[in-house]
Amino acid sequence: MDVTFVTSNPDKVVEVRRVFREYDIQVRWSRRALPEPQSDRLQDVVAAKLATAARPGRAVVVEDSGLFLDGLRGFPGVYSRYVYDTLGLEGILELLQGKPRRATFRTVAGFRRGRTTRIAVGTVQGTIAPRRKGHNGFGYDPIFVPRGSTRTFAEMEGPEKDRYSHRGRAIRALARKIGSSEKE
Ligand code: IMP
Repeated sequence: MDVTFVTSNPDKVVEVRRVFREYDIQVRWSRRALPEPQSDRLQDVVAAKLATAARPGRAVVVEDSGLFLDGLRGFPGVYSRYVYDTLGLEGILELLQGKPRRATFRTVAGFRRGRTTRIAVGTVQGTIAPRRKGHNGFGYDPIFVPRGSTRTFAEMEGPEKDRYSHRGRAIRALARKIGSSEKE
């Protein structure tokens, strides 16, 4: 089966394509930034993105992700992009000085074809490294160490990140849900 993944982020396409391939789902990329509503829930953002991305006769997939820092009471969460673009990794490391370093990455992924909608969530817990490490991946990858590893996502090859990551988990769960909706 084919799905169209709507996103402006080429790094997400690489990850989503790699994971869906394990389920024989082929990904076409529609390179487009979808408008995001002001909301403090990733689910609301995904629902709005699905509404805009939906096309008759086509299966579309969207996702939205956020980094939730325990030491900052869950901030930046849905504001992760804005914080990354303004404060950057160094700014986050500064804000966290002397604070608990536990963190959660979360992805909400959505699928729509006609009147069928499926939503899946993937989370990974971890810690924020004392300083940036590694050159792979994107965004917060150089400072996020998933539980069960001693390395940041940016120190891992893609398939290893997928095994741990919020996006890997969300897309695997979505693929299973899409598979079961096929049989309905
Ligand atoms: P978005 O709104 O889902 O595109 O992501 C919010 C922010 O989190 C952006 O700054 C992304 O670069 C960052 N981000 C999203 N997913 C990941 C990831 O898998 N690793 C690191 N950073 C990410």
